[in-house]
Amino acid sequence: MSLKYAKILILWASCLCPLGLQAELNALIPMPQQVQEGQGEFLLTDGLTIGYNHKSLRPAAEYLKDKLATATGYGVRVKKGSGTISLQLAGQRNDADESYTLTADGSGVHVTAAGYKGIIHGISTLRQLLPHEVESARAQTAVKWSVPYVKIKDRPSYEWRGLMLDPARHFYTMDETKRFLDMMCLYKFSKFHWHLIDTQAWRIEIKKYPLLTQKGAWRNPNREKIDYGSEMCAQEWNDPNMHLPQNLIRVENGDTLYGGYYSQKEIGEIVAYAAVRGIDVVPEIDFPGHNHKATRCYDWLSCHRDGLDPLCVGKDSVIKFCQDVYKEIFKLFPYEYVEIGGDEVRRYRWETCPNCQARIRREGLKDITELQAWFTRTMEKYFNRHGRMLIGWDEILEGGVSRTATVNWWRGYKAGVVQKATDGGNQVICCPTTFCYFDYAQDDSTLQKLYEGNIVPAQLTPAQLRLVKGMQANIWGEYIPTEARMQFMVFPRALALAEKAWNTTTLRPWTQFAATLTDHLPRLQAMGVNYRPLKAGFTNGFNTRPVHLRTTETPLNKPKK
Ligand code: ACM
Ligand code: ZN
Repeated sequence: MSLKYAKILILWASCLCPLGLQAELNALIPMPQQVQEGQGEFLLTDGLTIGYNHKSLRPAAEYLKDKLATATGYGVRVKKGSGTISLQLAGQRNDADESYTLTADGSGVHVTAAGYKGIIHGISTLRQLLPHEVESARAQTAVKWSVPYVKIKDRPSYEWRGLMLDPARHFYTMDETKRFLDMMCLYKFSKFHWHLIDTQAWRIEIKKYPLLTQKGAWRNPNREKIDYGSEMCAQEWNDPNMHLPQNLIRVENGDTLYGGYYSQKEIGEIVAYAAVRGIDVVPEIDFPGHNHKATRCYDWLSCHRDGLDPLCVGKDSVIKFCQDVYKEIFKLFPYEYVEIGGDEVRRYRWETCPNCQARIRREGLKDITELQAWFTRTMEKYFNRHGRMLIGWDEILEGGVSRTATVNWWRGYKAGVVQKATDGGNQVICCPTTFCYFDYAQDDSTLQKLYEGNIVPAQLTPAQLRLVKGMQANIWGEYIPTEARMQFMVFPRALALAEKAWNTTTLRPWTQFAATLTDHLPRLQAMGVNYRPLKAGFTNGFNTRPVHLRTTETPLNKPKK
């Protein structure tokens, strides 16, 4: 061991305590599991290189190069072998292992991991060790591009660190979706749950059923009174132009229509973009409820050919439709999990459907609740035959679910759901309304409540806890008419969630995290994010929507006579 190396090691060993860290180290979000501070700093200079030791790391190296070259204005070169910054796969290759080590010392910066995602996490940490201007889209002069000497050993507490985006209500363009993925990457989120269809629109091209997007991706916002978000924001922000984003408009037969969809080619582009950033894309095709657009496009999908949601699960042709759709989905998304949805189904409509009733009798089911459970199990078998695993909102527990389905616990107001699911052997992702609905209203205490709250219920036994896959936040779009509004609702809330999902072993006290956040906000600014300032008063959200804007929704439960 060289003398120089021995000295550095001693300095590292002398500081294992996060409280004594330099400002850059303290400002890391999420906080790494182990940080050893050194003394000194490594300076990035013009002509720096990014080396990689395995060809699979080239996209990660190019990604980092683009960031550094843009912000520093330096010449940056990617090369095989070692570089000023070296990215290295080491040990037994394991892409499921997200851990990494990052070392910065006099010899440069070294990021080492067993798999691609670990390397990406190391790059995200490196970005946060550099001045926040590194996130800038233009070259920044007069910045000293230094990295503090440090050794970081890090891994996530939870594998599932998700954000769900809903382009069905408000359509996000390709660029907006990519910007969202950029943010996810910086904060080490692992799963992009993409809610691609809902009552208001169908957003993904399905070749076998072209009407789903030809018709189903568009709506007349005046006739279909489902554009509350625009109205609310137009009032709240006193901006009448908010009613219809001009880039999402099409005029057809004199009607002004709002919408858009992702072609299969574009879906491939998003999946590839996310993969470079270490993010799995988990598509949700929400069956059998929330399907008003599909049943309007193909009325045979509905129980009485009346175009009303939900899907008629009594008809074999409808089961075939669902399988056809998922078959195309499986080809587009190469990941293990696909979301079936299954929430808020207006099951009462099945009571009067001869096909649904015949299915109940034929399958020996008790009622309409068991009919949905039968549908979910049937689809799960189809998923499994195609090598995929099923996830659904927590309603899939009702009427019996197989042990292999994973449950998104969203109804925070319903106690015991996680216990019930895990006792049945099901894995759970926690995204309770209580903390994780980022479209809900917020005030100046919301962030602290999220940070200090029990996103994973406190009373779980160790056996139940082992079945918790992780956490996610959901960003529904009914009251989010623009990307700017979405960012305002999501940031910096998402940073608190990122911290909690990554590091449950050394969660900082709130006061320390809040101070970190203050230091961190210029980074969001450098990325051009319209984040919510820490003190901004009250902001309306889905749960506080004005009553006069809710009038045309169809009832979720059977109307009382
Ligand atoms: C949901 O919020 N309906 C899952
Ligand atoms: Zn039916």
